[in-house]
Amino acid sequence: MNSFIGWIGGKKLLRKAIIERFPVDGFNRYIEVFGGAGWVLFGKEPGKELEVFNDINSNLINLYRCIKYHSEELQKELNWLLVSREQFFDNKCQLEVRGLTDIQRAARYFYIIKVSFGSDHRSFGTNKRNLLTSIEYLHEVQERLKNVVIENKDFSNIIEVYDRPGALFYLDPPYHGTEKYYGYDFGIKQHVDLNTILKNINGRFILFYFIL
Ligand SMILES: C[S@@+](CC[C@H](N)C(=O)[O-])C[C@H]1O[C@@H](n2cnc3c(N)ncnc32)[C@H](O)[C@@H]1O
Repeated sequence: MNSFIGWIGGKKLLRKAIIERFPVDGFNRYIEVFGGAGWVLFGKEPGKELEVFNDINSNLINLYRCIKYHSEELQKELNWLLVSREQFFDNKCQLEVRGLTDIQRAARYFYIIKVSFGSDHRSFGTNKRNLLTSIEYLHEVQERLKNVVIENKDFSNIIEVYDRPGALFYLDPPYHGTEKYYGYDFGIKQHVDLNTILKNINGRFILFYFIL
């Protein structure tokens, strides 16, 4: 199935090639460390293995959790939002302040991703879009997430917690030079740390790197 959002660096077009590289002798836990829009998770068939989805972005993970546990309430909240430039910038400001419930926050974040140009969260996109279809699709996403553990941790911590001999980690870190797009510090130090951690794990991994 498709993801429910676009994402900078999302692997919509590459997911098939990535999934083809999964070990043929199997694995009993699958951990997506740098989750984003989760194109590989949604592209893979759910099997018997434990599935874990992680990202450091707390607004994004709140959105996944609200879809998983409160899909109907989130859909109701979204039905009130109109597509307009003013609403887009109001939602962006509201995300910066306290006082929203998790569902209100998730609705605004979903709206910002859907309405922004190229899902960049920054600029109002002027393309025609059908928010209603996207909102209805959340039911299917909820179903897919039913048995997925959703985490909001730094990569080093999630790897340490879930590492076992039968684990398969899929890692799609911010590309060197594009880290600023995600709003989290991911520079040379983090790339070197990731390298060191992966050399010492008990499980296996698939790492996606893009050299600019
Ligand atoms: C290239 S994107 C992943 C795209 C994803 N594979 C997809 O198909 O949509 C990288 C992701 O890493 C997340 N990220 C950045 N720093 C992180 C960190 N220290 N730990 C975990 N996730 C992080 C970002 O929030 C972003 O969603």
